[in-house]
Amino acid sequence: MSAVQVRLQSLVLSNDILCQVRVRMRAAMDAGLGQQTHDAASIKMLPSFVRSTPDGTERGEYLALDLGGTNFRVLRVKIADESGQQKVFMENEIYVIPKEAMAGTAEQLFDLIAKCLSDFLEKRNIKSQKLPLAFTFSFPCKQTKLDESTLVTWTKGFKTSGVEGRDIVQLLREAIKRRGDFDIDVVAVVNDTVGTMMTCGYDDQRCEVGLIVGTGTNVCYMEELSNVELVEGDEGRMCVNTEWGAFGDDGALDDVLTEFDRELDHNSLNPGKQLYEKMISGMYLGEIVRLVLVKLTEEGLLFGGKVSSALGTKGSFETRFVSAMEKENVGLEKAEKILKDLGLQVSVQDCEAACLICCLVSTRSAHLCAAGLAAVVTRIRQNQAKDRLQTTVGVDGSVYKLHPQFSQRLQDALKLLVPECEVHFILSEDGSGKGAAMVTAVAYRLAQQRRQ
Ligand code: GLC
Repeated sequence: MSAVQVRLQSLVLSNDILCQVRVRMRAAMDAGLGQQTHDAASIKMLPSFVRSTPDGTERGEYLALDLGGTNFRVLRVKIADESGQQKVFMENEIYVIPKEAMAGTAEQLFDLIAKCLSDFLEKRNIKSQKLPLAFTFSFPCKQTKLDESTLVTWTKGFKTSGVEGRDIVQLLREAIKRRGDFDIDVVAVVNDTVGTMMTCGYDDQRCEVGLIVGTGTNVCYMEELSNVELVEGDEGRMCVNTEWGAFGDDGALDDVLTEFDRELDHNSLNPGKQLYEKMISGMYLGEIVRLVLVKLTEEGLLFGGKVSSALGTKGSFETRFVSAMEKENVGLEKAEKILKDLGLQVSVQDCEAACLICCLVSTRSAHLCAAGLAAVVTRIRQNQAKDRLQTTVGVDGSVYKLHPQFSQRLQDALKLLVPECEVHFILSEDGSGKGAAMVTAVAYRLAQQRRQ
């Protein structure tokens, strides 16, 4: 083992630890679902009010807003019937949310959202049509109805004041009213995980889990309503947004956290929060690698002991560099270029060590994610009282889609952890847009069925 490998043993998680993480995740899920234990639970297991996955009969034209990933988007989604087959047509526009708006007031943020929506409708000449709109708002929200949703806490770098504790549908409706140039029917608020599950659920009816490993990480799944103690009723199922990113905020991961995780957390916008997410998702992976590189350089193990000012700057090592440096055959070459661009004097050994660090950090991310997912599929298996479970997970997110080995490592680790579950993964195509429209369409279908 190289000196770097020995130094970084804390980033390698044994199978035994992963099994423990899985057990602790299961306990955290149980606590989040229980009426008595919910308030103190680290993961909130939020009811989504989505009661069914698509059955293929959904139709209609919808608008969708998507806030919470890399970009803010407005979309028009048409679910049509083509000779008895469901077909989805989409168009979207990307708008930039400036950093100031992410840290400004609620009014500024929602006025901006309404302005983008107005621009989108104007361009398509559909301002006078009152289309149903679904809002994919990918933050933890306490939902009381499909169209009533209070932000619990911001995550992923948002800090806008005056939104936490408020109903975001009301904030949106008020902003639209302030403009007065169009009217819209806000029908549903949807988490991106739920949108992802619903999009995939339309291709594969066995899909009952939605996973995101992108800027943030989170999972939703279909739970028996009788176990969702926060919602009345015992019949049928409801999709639960776990908000698993907050796992560990109660100390459950203290033996897994390394000095690097603690430093990253300390310097973050939300110290002490989203600790599991901070070890897994794209917003943080590059930064963990940077902190490791800095520390090892200071200890004299890398770059002749000299930290360049770029490497010393928060955020300078982007998560896409991790993917680039782990690409088969070209990783080492990429590493040299990336490290030189950061003003470092590099040897071949330095490049090899940096690639190894990326591999350790991204593997740990995939393995932790697998441990969490193992808890989720086990819960589904037990709900269905089966010895073996076949299920499908719909997935989206830049880390899962763009990192060259992430998905394989995740799936391999999951197989080892839950050999009794056969888990298929399908990539979601734009869950935040298509899935949001699908949620609205399914809600219409169920309402119609109730009326009949
Ligand atoms: C963060 C958000 C969560 C979202 C996830 C993925 O964890 O809190 O709501 O689903 O990021 O975007």
